[in-house]
Amino acid sequence: MIKLLTVVGARPQFIKAAAISRMIRERYSDSIREIIVHTGQHYDHQMSDVFFKELEIPEPHHNLGIGSGNHGRQTGEMLMKLEAVFEKEQPDAVVVYGDTNSTVAAALAASKINLPVIHIEAGLRSFNKQMPEEINRIFTDHVSTLLFSPTRAGMDNLKNEGLLSGKQPPYSIDQPGIFHTGDIMYDNTLFFADKARESSGILAKLELKNKKFVLATIHRPVNTDSDDRLTGIMEALIEIPAAFGTDIVLPVHPRTAKKFESLHDSDLYRQLTPENGIHLIPAVSYLDMIMLEYSASLIITDSGGVQKEAWFMEKPVVILRTETEWTEIVAQGNGVLADANTKKIVEATGNYLKNQPVDFPKVYGNGNAAGEILEIVLNAAWK
Ligand code: UD1
Ligand code: UDP
Repeated sequence: MIKLLTVVGARPQFIKAAAISRMIRERYSDSIREIIVHTGQHYDHQMSDVFFKELEIPEPHHNLGIGSGNHGRQTGEMLMKLEAVFEKEQPDAVVVYGDTNSTVAAALAASKINLPVIHIEAGLRSFNKQMPEEINRIFTDHVSTLLFSPTRAGMDNLKNEGLLSGKQPPYSIDQPGIFHTGDIMYDNTLFFADKARESSGILAKLELKNKKFVLATIHRPVNTDSDDRLTGIMEALIEIPAAFGTDIVLPVHPRTAKKFESLHDSDLYRQLTPENGIHLIPAVSYLDMIMLEYSASLIITDSGGVQKEAWFMEKPVVILRTETEWTEIVAQGNGVLADANTKKIVEATGNYLKNQPVDFPKVYGNGNAAGEILEIVLNAAWK
């Protein structure tokens, strides 16, 4: 029996962790024991609890309650508290997902006390170090013992940074095992699609059943913390319903909600109304989100996970950034980097609404990434 300690903290990590926890329960309960630690980075009901309940993720064994803060304080507090939990639990390895401050804190705390780190969603790069996530990813990959990349591009990025895979177990921080597997988020999309169709009431609630709509999300600091960029995006969102006769649904991340509060009295904000075809709603649960993605004609987003889910649902995506880690989407022509440029966002939306892409090759695996990953983890010859 090996003991894995999983560290999660932010919304996309709960979703990713659900795929691995479910697989441990279904197939590996005799050989893997999982301890879950929640850093508390995300804490609102709609950003945390709702995912544990809906995705049936086991209750965390430890919740560090760290909450929001600037990078140094948030990451520093995580480091201190995680080290204490690791010392107490003495796991065989620490599992981290993606690229948030919770990821990098766990990777640093574990590697400094010689605990092997397993990084799921390794190798992704934007080549833009202004993004806090880029620093988190590079750092985490370079102290990991097992790295699982969901894309070919991710494997190439790791190789280009001099990270070469050991040929066989045992692996170590100096001779890591690097593997290309499917994407665990695809596992989840497939697993929860029917459940979402059966139980989500979001379309009825928004009166959008059988109605054409575009789904949008915005939460990257580069967009929310710049008045110019946020204004550029909002102007596009206001123009789209009028230009193309389609509604827009915008579930709002708390970071963006706070920014909107300061814009309450602005003319632009006041135009974001259902009468103008724009449904501003609080952040939704995963099943509601899957349902919205499945039913939308197109997705506009700056989220990493939502870009991929657009692909899983075979929907075009207008990306509110200048670059993406998920390069396959743009290379295939199923996504456009429209930045925060009103004209580009509206044009790309219009083009895709007229000509829906049809070819979405299976580049993210076959829905069994969690199984592939756990098989490798089990055979990695732990101490
Ligand atoms: C974090 C991740 C980002 C990821 C995103 C997923 C980092 C550096 N960033 O960004 O990579 O894409 O999560 O959603 O780790 N807030 C609340 N309630 C909550 C959580 C946050 O009100 O439950 C507000 C707070 O004002 C907080 C702000 O949102 O300051 C930002 O939260 P934070 O976790 O620091 O970063 P995210 O933007 O959520
Ligand atoms: N998501 C959700 N509710 C929302 C917005 C997003 O459940 O209101 C899900 C989405 O389906 C995806 C994940 O959250 O699985 C993406 O997380 P997010 O956009 O917060 O972060 P990123 O992927 O950019 O790190």
